[in-house]
Order: sequence, then structure tokens, then C-alpha cells
Amino acid sequence: MLPAVLQNFSQLHDYATAVLNECGGTFEFKGPRFANLDMVCTCDPSNIHHIMSKNFPNYPKGPEFRKMFDILGDGIFNSDSELWELHRKTTMALMNHAKFHKVLERTVWDKIENGLLPVLDYLIQKGNAIDLQEIFQRFTFDSTCKLVLDYDPCSLSIDLPYIPCEKAFTDTAKALLHRHILPESLWKLEKWLGIAQEKKLAKAWEAFDQFIYPCIPLVKDQESNGTKLQDDVDFSLLTGFLKAYKGKSDSRDFMRDTLLSLIFAGRDTTSTTLTWFFWLIASNPLVEIKILEEIETKLHVKETKQDRFFNAEESRKLVYLHGALCETLRLYPPVALEHKSPIRPDILPSGHHIPKNTRIILVLYSTGRMERIWGKDCLEFKPERWISEHGGIKHEPSFKFPAFNAGPRTCIGKEMSFVQMKMVVATIILNYHVQVVESHSVSPSDSIIIQMKHGLKVRLSKRHA
Ligand code: HEM
Repeated sequence: MLPAVLQNFSQLHDYATAVLNECGGTFEFKGPRFANLDMVCTCDPSNIHHIMSKNFPNYPKGPEFRKMFDILGDGIFNSDSELWELHRKTTMALMNHAKFHKVLERTVWDKIENGLLPVLDYLIQKGNAIDLQEIFQRFTFDSTCKLVLDYDPCSLSIDLPYIPCEKAFTDTAKALLHRHILPESLWKLEKWLGIAQEKKLAKAWEAFDQFIYPCIPLVKDQESNGTKLQDDVDFSLLTGFLKAYKGKSDSRDFMRDTLLSLIFAGRDTTSTTLTWFFWLIASNPLVEIKILEEIETKLHVKETKQDRFFNAEESRKLVYLHGALCETLRLYPPVALEHKSPIRPDILPSGHHIPKNTRIILVLYSTGRMERIWGKDCLEFKPERWISEHGGIKHEPSFKFPAFNAGPRTCIGKEMSFVQMKMVVATIILNYHVQVVESHSVSPSDSIIIQMKHGLKVRLSKRHA
């Protein structure tokens, strides 16, 4: 079956969706003999529920995942069992800390005020088309680095500086999708020869190390100088992690893997959702009007200044906007795939027999596009489907809407990303009108993160010029 996949590689996510639709949601892929590419692909909610939640202990990510994602080392994405539990407990404790929410709010607003708004105003003045995807990637890179490393690389500045680490995330996500469809021996050969996607991955690895390692000893020095690691005034994730992982023998490398995984988690997912969101509302002007009305009435914007600060509490009042973001995530979940590999043989609810160590790919992109799950209008962008009859957000189970994963490994940054996205969207919609450049071609990229292949070229105009 590999030739068909290679032939459709440039539109792999849609091709997989079409095949899964034909097969009732689960498909057994057979690769060439000896290539170790056989796998079971599924987007069936009952299978997702079984694998991610009900029978979770039987389904670690497995050794194949770890080999493919070696660039993330011992970070949370690559870990299973005790190591994963340690990461999960530590990260949740830090991200649920009351002070973290204040730091988040301050960091995001600071980036909007001193990065996003000045850069957009400058680009409008120059009259050029703007690649919104690039702007959002720089935005989330800076804000995530500030939150995770306590350091803002200021990639979202007027001159849009080239920062190797910032670009390395996109190259990594593309190379990792290639590793999914090439036999291991082939991508290992490419790695050894230093060619093709593996060459880019090696460069990305170098860029990550050069960027992250220098951020680690700075705080270590502070500690040896007697500075308290976490005092009441300055809460930071970095100091929290340093304190938690202090005793580990390889603590510098472990910190590198921990921090890189978090930046990876925060940068591409949030920027990708924002990009698809603005494309979807540019194609659905009525939705844009409703969002604008909601912001103006619920946040009383007309009585206050247009460019005022929105806080996290206010963003929770924006129910329709929340629905529009969920609808974006249903159609374009940034994390396209999830891996599992059972320790013991099992039978899935769909009836498929799964020998132990089978490679299972959960195709999260396809779950949101199945007619039997979401109805005849499943390909339409309808924020209304998320609004309950009482006017609140309608809850959908995570196995039906797995954009943030499901079960014990559900995304830790879900709340945080909604706050960040709503603050950005509210600011942009209030201040600018977004129009996609005519003839700009839009399609998902061949990457494990569903970015836009050619970026999102738009023209912005000031709403109240
Ligand atoms: C729209 C935004 C986001 C989406 C759609 C999203 C989606 C996901 C998905 C699908 C996973 C499972 C990945 C896997 O196991 O392979 C995940 C895990 C995770 N996410 Fe997010 N994420 C988002 C934002 C964030 C942010 C902003 C952070 C924080 C920096 C974050 C932190 C994490 C962490 C730490 C995990 C690992 C959880 C675990 O394995 O126990 N995410 N996310």
C-alpha cells in the first residue's frame, strides 16, 4: 500500500480521511515486507475512548514513537510509565499554580502590546501582504519562551529577525511526518548520509540545543549565588522545574528535553489554530460579525477604549468565540496523529484484533470530518454547533473531539491556550479587518502539525481608521 501513500503524500491528511471514511473509521495499513511499516489507523471514537481512557495502561506510546521523536529526548511527549508520571505531576503542579495564571496574562498582553500591534501597524503602513501564520508563529514562540525559559527572544519585532530555533520547529514537524511513512532503515540511512529531511532535522536539533542550553545555567548560577529558586513575587516555570529536577544526574540534558517539549507543545499548536481560525472567519463574514458583536457587548468595549487590555476572566465570557475556536480545532486539529502500541493483545470495539506491539495511529484530523460522527454538515464551519440551548458551551466528549487528546494524557495547556487565543483574537478583530489575498492557495502542510502549507497571506485594514 506504500506507493498509494507516497503518491498522495502532498495531501496525506485528506487522503487518510477519505480512506478511513470508506472503511468505517478503521484501516489496516500493510507496508512492504521487512519495512516494519504495518499499522492500524483509526479515527473511530469508540476505539479512541478504549485506547486513550478505558484501557490506557495497555497502550503506552511505545518504543517506535520514541525512536521517531528522538529530538525531544526524555521530555513528556516521549515518556511512558514512571517518567511520564513524574513529568505530568510536575508540569501540572506548576501550570495550575495561581501565580502562573497571572504570569500568563501579563506575558500574553505584553506580547500583544509590544509585539503584535506595533508589527501589524508597521506592515499595514508599508502596504505589503502579511503572512499571518508567520506572525502567529513568532507570537507564540516569544510568549512560550518567555513563559517556559523566562526569556523573550523578540522574534516578533518590526524587522522580523531570523532566529534559527524559531524556524527549526517547522522543519522538525515536517521531518517527523516523513519518518512515519518511510521505513526506519531508509530514514536512518538519510540521517547517516545527512541528506533530505534528515539534514534539516539535524540542523534543527543543533539550533534547539544552541538556544536552550544557555538558558539553563543562568538560573543554576542564580541558585548557587543564593537566590531563592521560587519566591513569592517572581514565579517562573523554569525555576520551578529546576527545583523539581535538581537531584537528577543528567539534569541539564533532562531540563533541555523538558523545556524543549513544552515550547514544542505551545508554539505550533496555538499559532496553527489561530491561523486556520482567521482563514475560516475571513470566508464566513457573518461569524466575524457575531464575534465582534459579542466582544463589544459582553466586554463593554464601546464605553471603554478599543485597544484596551483583556484579561483571562473576561475571555471566559466570550462563549460564541469559544465555539468558533472549537469549530476550528474540530476541522483543523493541529496535532494530526497520536501513537499507541499495546503491551498485550487486544480487541478494539470496532472488532479489530490487535496483536501486542502493533503500531496504532489515531488519526485525530479525520475524527472531526466523519459524517457518521458530526452529521451531513461535518465539513461546514458552524460555531453554533458548540452552543447549548442554554447559551453556554455544549460539551462534546474528548474521544469525539480529540484535538486536545483524551484520557490521562489530555493536553495540559488547553485552558492556557484558550486564554491566549481569545486575547489575541479579541484584540485583532476589534482593531483590524482581515481579508485573505485573492488567489492565495490554502491547504494543510505535510507535517505532523497541520500548519498551512503556504502560510496565510492577508491584507489588514484598520477597523476604525
Ligand atoms: C490549541 C492549542 C493546543 C492543542 C490543540 C494541543 C493539543 C495537544 C495534544 C493532541 C496532545 C497529545 C500529544 C501526544 O501525546 O502526542 C497534547 C499534549 C500536551 N500538551 Fe497540548 N495542545 C495545545 C496547547 C498547549 C499549550 C499552550 C501547552 C503548554 C505549553 C501544551 C502542553 C501540553 C503538554 C505538556 C502535553 C503532554 C501531556 C501528556 O503527555 O501527558 N499544549 N496537546
